[in-house]
Order: sequence, then structure tokens, then C-alpha cells
Amino acid sequence: MCILSTSTTVVNCKFSTKNRIFKPELRQKKLNLISSTIPFKLKNLLLHNFAVRQELMDTNTDLLQYIFNQISKKVSSTVEGHTSLRKNLTPEDLKESLDFKIPYQSISDNEILNIIKTLMDQSVNTNHPYFMNQMFGKTQPIAYLADVLITLLNTSMYTYEVAPVLTLIENETIDFLSKKVWGRSGDGVFTSGGSMSNMKAMFLAREYKFKDSRTLGLNAYPPVTIFVSDQAHYSFVKGANFLGFGTDALIKIPSDVNAKIRIDALEDIIEKTIADGRIPIMLTGIAGTTTSGSFDDLEALASIAKKYNMWYHVDACFGGASLFSDLEKHRLKGIEHANSVSWNFHKVMSMPLSTASFLTRDKGLLKEAFTVNADYLFHDHDNTYDLGQKSLQGGRRPEVLKLWLSLKYKGEAGFKAHVESLRQKAVYFSSVIENNPHMELFQTPESVIVCFRYKADSLDDKDTDDLNIKIREEIFKKGDIIFNYAYLNNKVYLRVVLLDPDFTKAQLDHILETIETCAKSILMVADS
Ligand SMILES: Cc1ncc(COP(=O)(O)O)c(C=O)c1O
Repeated sequence: MCILSTSTTVVNCKFSTKNRIFKPELRQKKLNLISSTIPFKLKNLLLHNFAVRQELMDTNTDLLQYIFNQISKKVSSTVEGHTSLRKNLTPEDLKESLDFKIPYQSISDNEILNIIKTLMDQSVNTNHPYFMNQMFGKTQPIAYLADVLITLLNTSMYTYEVAPVLTLIENETIDFLSKKVWGRSGDGVFTSGGSMSNMKAMFLAREYKFKDSRTLGLNAYPPVTIFVSDQAHYSFVKGANFLGFGTDALIKIPSDVNAKIRIDALEDIIEKTIADGRIPIMLTGIAGTTTSGSFDDLEALASIAKKYNMWYHVDACFGGASLFSDLEKHRLKGIEHANSVSWNFHKVMSMPLSTASFLTRDKGLLKEAFTVNADYLFHDHDNTYDLGQKSLQGGRRPEVLKLWLSLKYKGEAGFKAHVESLRQKAVYFSSVIENNPHMELFQTPESVIVCFRYKADSLDDKDTDDLNIKIREEIFKKGDIIFNYAYLNNKVYLRVVLLDPDFTKAQLDHILETIETCAKSILMVADS
């Protein structure tokens, strides 16, 4: 028995300190955190930090138990360890099963428990290995823990005053990441996601080109141009709109058959916009496109950006993970010339949403761009530890903790192994497709997205598109496996994002067999 005390409450606690989660002797390296130890550990952690509040001690233990069990299920590494992936429910079905209205009077613990059960049961289980619909999915269990800690700490990353340890963690992590990109210390900040990071890049490009634009606004300057490939994430369009450049400022350069920006077309287009009286301010290279995971030629783009004195940004939200692997990092050759880089960790690196960084090669630019006078908060303008002066956000969760703790726990070597294991799965998966006469691979995958289509001799391109959309719809409705489809070179391809390093060959074969069986049954019905 121990006594835990806070300023307001003193409560008897049944949990001995010897069970504390970060005691080294309990931190079994092989723990894998995936096992049933997680609820126990989390429970201790929560109770040590939270449960001193009488309110939570009084909470129905069924409710806490249920939540801990859910965590255990969610981190299960096997398909069998999971309950269903998704249920095919309409909004009407959901309205019937849950009362969404907000009551005036409080409801009971049991009612809350029922609500949580419905929520968990009827939501999409994105931790399921067969959730391959998005670029995020199964998360690293250690990062789960970090996310719980973030909520417990409930602080904001704007001042050292309220986030002393976390500030040093963020600084160290930014330093580590920028060394991965540039081979030396740079600068940066964790953001709410890749979209925010890309918009920050557009903002810095404006500052780089027009020093006085902060006070004068964009009206004081000729119209600008920002170049991205037609495969770029939609956040660039939103950014052009949001930052006041106007969407006409965003020039989309055509991509080639492998979804890479056409370097041969780029300079002519830049010259044309200059002739039209526009000033080129930014060029973006993509390391891992959203649809097919393709990598632009970052080296060639760097020299064009230099020639036209443009801010050079690399969107490595998806493909940045390859920097952890000596086998894979050649795809990002040229990134070291970038002025800025967006790099997400809730994608390939399996952190919970969202864990994202924005990095700059040169120090001080972010602070210069975002510093404001807010004396009530930032008492010392020279304090480089007040990270709020580098950030666009006000209150900002310490998302970095998920990445830093995972890196500590697994080491860089663990991250390398994660990336290489995922790549092996993608290579195996694509080789099976390549050897199947009924399937057509979009390209040998450069990352962990595999795009392919089912085809039949009797079908033309249009019918093949329809067939593949139908395959995706049918399998989606069943809800055992989820992947998406996308248009590439004006054709429909099934798009599978492989984010589970524990996938077995049998599971990967099962996905393709499911697709083939579904295709055959659609074709059979169509023939009859
Ligand atoms: C290449 C790329 N950049 C940026 C983003 C945006 O990232 P976020 O969803 O974190 O805003 C995505 C999202 O899928 C992406 O694929």
C-alpha cells in the first residue's frame, strides 16, 4: 500500500511503486508491448498520475477495464488478435444505435460505458493489419504509451516555462532529423501535420523572396508562381488559397508515366510564367507521392530551384522514412539541397496521428518569420527555448514525444529495420502481382504503396476501370480488408498501402487471392 497525495486529495493506492512502468527492471526489452502486459502497465501509469483524483477513483471500474482491454486489442500484432476491421453502416444505422444528442443532465457510468462500446465497435479499426486504405495505420505500441503521456501532461509547446523537458526533447529530435536530411544541424518544429508543414514552406518562400511582405502584404508585389507536380498533395492548393497567393499561383507540372515530375517540361513552363510577369518563388520536389509513393528527381529539381533563385522545398511526408535505411535513402538524393522539408511520422513510421515535422536547413528562419509580441506569454524574446516563437500554432501538443520515445525504445536500428521490413513486404507483394497474368502492376514500387489493376482479355480500358472500382467496392463492403483505388495515367489502379511490418507472406497472398476471387465472381455474374 502506498499513499499518493496531491494538493487537494490524499488517496490510498493499491499499486506498489515497484510496478511503475519506467522502472528499468520492468522494462523488459522483449516486451513488445503488444502483449497483454500493456493494459496492466497503462493502468498503473494512469492510476499513478490520474487516479489520485477522486472522480476517477470513483469511476466504474468496468469502464476503465473496458478501455484497457480495448487498448490491448488495438495493439495486437496479429490479424486474429483483432475484432472486425469495419462494419458497413449508414449514417441512419449509426443514429439508431447511438443517441448523439447532448443531454442537459449527466448520464450514468454504465451509459457512458455503452456509448464507448458502441464507439469502439462501430468505428473503423485502423490498427488492423488489413487496414490499407490510408497512409497511416497500425501504430507502434510504445507510441501509444507516449500519446497517453501527452494527454496526462496536458501542456503546450510554446514556452519553456510550461514544457521544460519536452522543449529539450523537441530540440534534440529536430537536431537529429535535420542531421538525417542535411548531415548537419538545422532547425524546425513539430506541426499539426503535413498540410501545415507544406503551408509553412510556402510561407517561408514568401518571406525569402519578399522581405517586407509581412508588413506590406502581397499586394505590394507582382503575382508569384509556386511549382509542384500534378501528383502533389492537395495541401499546396489549400496553401495557395489560404496564404493569399491565389490558386492561380500554383502551377502544376505534368508528371511522367511513373508519376514523377517531368524535369524536361519544367524550365519551359517557368520561363513562360516569367514572361507573363509572374515571379517564381518556390519549387517543390516530392519524396513519396500520395497516390503511388513515387520519388521525384530531387537533385535535378535542386539545380533548377537554384538557377531561378527559388525556395526549394521537399515534401517527404511519406517517403522521408527511407532516410532511416542505407538501402533506401538513395531515392532522396538531392534532399540535402532543400531549404525546407516536410516529414511525417504517422505514415510509414507508424506513430499515432498526428506526428509531423517541418524542418529548415538554416537556423533562425522560423523564428524570424513567426515571432510576435505577446508579452503576457513570451517574457524574454531572446529565449531560444520558447518554441512558440517558431510555430504558427498557439497551443501545441508535444507530439514529438511519440517519436522521441519510440526512437529511444527501438533505437535508430529499430527504425531502419521497420522501414526495411515494410519494403520487403512491398517488394514481395509486387512480385506476386507481376507474376500473375491477370494483374498489371503500375510500377515496381519505390516505397510501401503498391498500385495495380486486375485485367481480363475480354475487357477494354474503360471496362477494366469499372471492374477495378467494383472489386474495391465489393471488398470494402465486406469489411475484412480495406484498400483504395486511384487514377494514374488516366487508368484506375487498386492502391494498397502496406504498413504492417509483421505481415506474413500468407497474409499478403490472401489479399491478392481475395481480389482475384472477387474479380472472377464479378466477371462471372457479368457473363451470365
Ligand atoms: C505527400 C504528402 N504530403 C502531405 C500530406 C499531408 O499530410 P497530413 O495528412 O499530415 O496533413 C500527405 C498526406 O497524405 C501526403 O501524402
